[in-house]
Amino acid sequence: MFQENAEVVDQCTIASKTHLIRLNCPKIASLIRPGQFVMIKLPGGNDPLLGRPFALYDTILDDQGESIGIEIVYLELGKMTSLLPAVVPGQSIEIWGPLGKPFPIFSEKKHVAFIAGGIGQTPFLAFGKQLLGIKAYGGDSLKKTLEKITMIYGVRSGSFLAGVDHFESIGLELFCTTDDGSRGFHGRVTELLKTLPKADHWYGCGPEPMLHALCKLALEENIPCHVSLESPMACGLGICFSCVVKVKAEQGWDYKRICVDGPVFNADALVLE
Ligand SMILES: Cc1cc2nc3c(=O)[nH]c(=O)nc-3n(C[C@H](O)[C@H](O)[C@H](O)COP(=O)(O)OP(=O)(O)OC[C@H]3O[C@@H](n4cnc5c(N)ncnc54)[C@H](O)[C@@H]3O)c2cc1C
Ligand code: FES
Repeated sequence: MFQENAEVVDQCTIASKTHLIRLNCPKIASLIRPGQFVMIKLPGGNDPLLGRPFALYDTILDDQGESIGIEIVYLELGKMTSLLPAVVPGQSIEIWGPLGKPFPIFSEKKHVAFIAGGIGQTPFLAFGKQLLGIKAYGGDSLKKTLEKITMIYGVRSGSFLAGVDHFESIGLELFCTTDDGSRGFHGRVTELLKTLPKADHWYGCGPEPMLHALCKLALEENIPCHVSLESPMACGLGICFSCVVKVKAEQGWDYKRICVDGPVFNADALVLE
């Protein structure tokens, strides 16, 4: 794990209240893998005092193909994410990572589905590139491990769909859903998922109720499924226990820390309440 003062290269708005920020942080960029995350703290001042976790969206490469930075896509939600859009190129942000465990890869799987809700699409661009052999991460070699990725990406309204062009450009089969019917399928990601041909493995990321519905569906349909949990975190390092999730254990259940044991968990291991 490294801590860097990352210079902001640029940032732009890619959907309603959704921004893409590019950070210069070569040490973290050379190690991070899809599914892992970083903690970020705003420059100058202690409000908010704590850092906030963000998934790797993609790495930035220089002309020689070396990783020199990372991209993050964030939704304006509360204190920090409302202040972040005002940070301009040239300013520095405190960032530490890579944190957590990457998405597990199963080389025997030929067709996987990504199921994303809200801002939960962010870990899937890099993961899609990795699985399709388009880009390598963390010093690994390029390796195409499957034939097809279907992605179901749901938001409350069409204006919140962020990075659709990025996902389409890597050759995913993409279906969008909206709660208000303004774009794509009118309804929930899990409703659409039920109508599609079954993939060999599901990976999900999004709000807790959506992930619970997805995990239950995966168990009913007997489809292996991993989900990336986006709980609030205070340290990101396994120290504060502010990020625990209930998992099945021999004696009923136990707590796991999402920041160090996750953020990606097997759906089968979670206690769904
Ligand atoms: C591993 C991981 C990866 C993440 N990746 C991304 C990402 O790529 N892009 C992105 O936009 N967000 C991501 N998040 C969520 C992001 O960390 C929160 O949106 C951010 O912390 C909000 O900070 P804030 O100061 O703006 O809001 P705050 O002022 O801290 O909170 C505002 C409100 O949101 C609630 N809240 C805070 N954090 C969360 C959360 N994680 N889930 C649900 N409710 C929350 C608070 O309880 C409060 O009600 C990720 C979270 C995790 C754990
Ligand atoms: S955020 Fe502190 S233990 Fe996970």
